[in-house]
Amino acid sequence: MSRSEAEPGGGDVAAAMTAVPRSAYLRRPQRRFAAVDLALPIGHHQTCSQPSTVRSMLEQLDVRAGQHVLDVGAGSGWTTALLAWLVGPSGTVVGVELEAELARWGAGNVVAAGLPWARVEHAAPGRLGWPREAPYDRILVSAEPATLPQQLVDQLADGGRLVIPVRGTMTLVIRDGGETTATHHGSYRFVPLR
Ligand SMILES: C[S@@+](CC[C@H](N)C(=O)[O-])C[C@H]1O[C@@H](n2cnc3c(N)ncnc32)[C@H](O)[C@@H]1O
Repeated sequence: MSRSEAEPGGGDVAAAMTAVPRSAYLRRPQRRFAAVDLALPIGHHQTCSQPSTVRSMLEQLDVRAGQHVLDVGAGSGWTTALLAWLVGPSGTVVGVELEAELARWGAGNVVAAGLPWARVEHAAPGRLGWPREAPYDRILVSAEPATLPQQLVDQLADGGRLVIPVRGTMTLVIRDGGETTATHHGSYRFVPLR
């Protein structure tokens, strides 16, 4: 068994998705659909994202052991826990969720996962991301803005990567010194970033 299969911190997306089962991040009536490759409702008109989409976003993000990661739109906490598995105990993950009840539930789900280097915070309305702990090596955004938010680009470390669905197009932003480059990776539909 390789290190990535055995323990957190291997950076292997497939191993993380096996180690962090989606069912633990769904409402009870939805759990029997956990293996279905569809977004599923988690209440408050929000969803737990489609597994194939999460996998492809995590692959674009290219998370490494020990990194400091921000998860915007943590919802159920599933992506926060997946990111925690990828960075391992030498890393840190901050998930932020705007909807108060989801933030409480997602935070509890992440605590139950036993990955104490990750947590979910209630996002402050009007303040995107979690600037007080910036810069981040990686930022994952699971809700859709109309344009690339500069506030999130500003929270990215030098050499950092941001994956975000901008107006339906999955966008990878890489920061290199003062320069950022954006590339596009297919069409997806997400709930709005508010
Ligand atoms: C697709 S859902 C949850 C996806 C989640 N990452 C998962 O594991 O499936 C996106 C979430 O983004 C949240 N959201 C929208 N705008 C936000 C913002 N500005 N800051 C934080 N969360 C936000 C929504 O409330 C919603 O729960």
